[in-house]
Amino acid sequence: MHRLILAAAPGWLPPRASEGAEKVDSIFMLILGITTAFFVIILVAATYFTIRYRARKWTAPQPSPSHHLKLELVWSIIPTILLVAIFGVSTKAWLASADAQTAEAATTVYVTGQQWQWKFEYQGGKRSDELHLLLNEPVDLVLSSPDVLHSFYVPAFRIKQDVVPGRFTRLHVTPTEAGTFPVFCAEYCGNDHSIMQTQVVIHPDLASYDAWKNEKIDESVPLVKVGEMLYQKNCLSCHSLDGTRKVGPTFKGLWGSSQTMEGGEVVTVDENFVRESIVEPKKRVAQGYPPAMPPQSLGEREMQGIIEYIRSVK
Ligand code: CUA
Repeated sequence: MHRLILAAAPGWLPPRASEGAEKVDSIFMLILGITTAFFVIILVAATYFTIRYRARKWTAPQPSPSHHLKLELVWSIIPTILLVAIFGVSTKAWLASADAQTAEAATTVYVTGQQWQWKFEYQGGKRSDELHLLLNEPVDLVLSSPDVLHSFYVPAFRIKQDVVPGRFTRLHVTPTEAGTFPVFCAEYCGNDHSIMQTQVVIHPDLASYDAWKNEKIDESVPLVKVGEMLYQKNCLSCHSLDGTRKVGPTFKGLWGSSQTMEGGEVVTVDENFVRESIVEPKKRVAQGYPPAMPPQSLGEREMQGIIEYIRSVK
């Protein structure tokens, strides 16, 4: 039954971008089909009986009809067969996927889930906030968390894996579709669980992947532009430019201003405070805001760029 494989995901399902996604979908469609059929049968029968046997005038309650062995057997045996069938195809698919998990890929990416951000580090030292993969190239994702339980969820991969503090979990994935797909955290992990999102970028060829892997912020890019690029990449979801209150304070008018911290200390936003807020964000937290920001590691020029950019946001 689960050989019934659809060519492409129907429009109401997320796109499919990994090996194994089709199998998950075919089981989903099988279960959806069975439950829809029963939903319709039960609804039609209930509606019919409600009308057919409605109380026309009040009569004293009748004793229940006696036990009907044949009916009892029919509605016990048929669902049992269906449930065992669902269990069978699901288990078979699960074992196949668990089997694939034992494969060793040539590439490993370390994934860190922390309140409330995903971080990726690649062999060779590259780091990113988005997961970059190469089409048709199997990869091992090694996941860990320095704080609480998270869950790495890529709907397009039809994959979800818990990220557990104190131990490594892993995922073996082969991307089968180039493009950009959302990544979520699927385990409630605190105040800003819902913003713990990023994306996976699947490069169509090695040239495109290498171009990303080797890209550096060029020395010729002016500082304020460096800062803007970093802002777009890292800061945008929590810090607005127009005064809107988001997870963290807005950058508008922030430079040079006096800000009250938790505990009542008043600080002036200058170079050293900006650096501290980036490197040790939990040391001093703006009053009324959650200690949501994870520490960032930036190069010196990137740090200067962010400072220059915040200074430019009037
Ligand atoms: Cu991390 Cu929810």
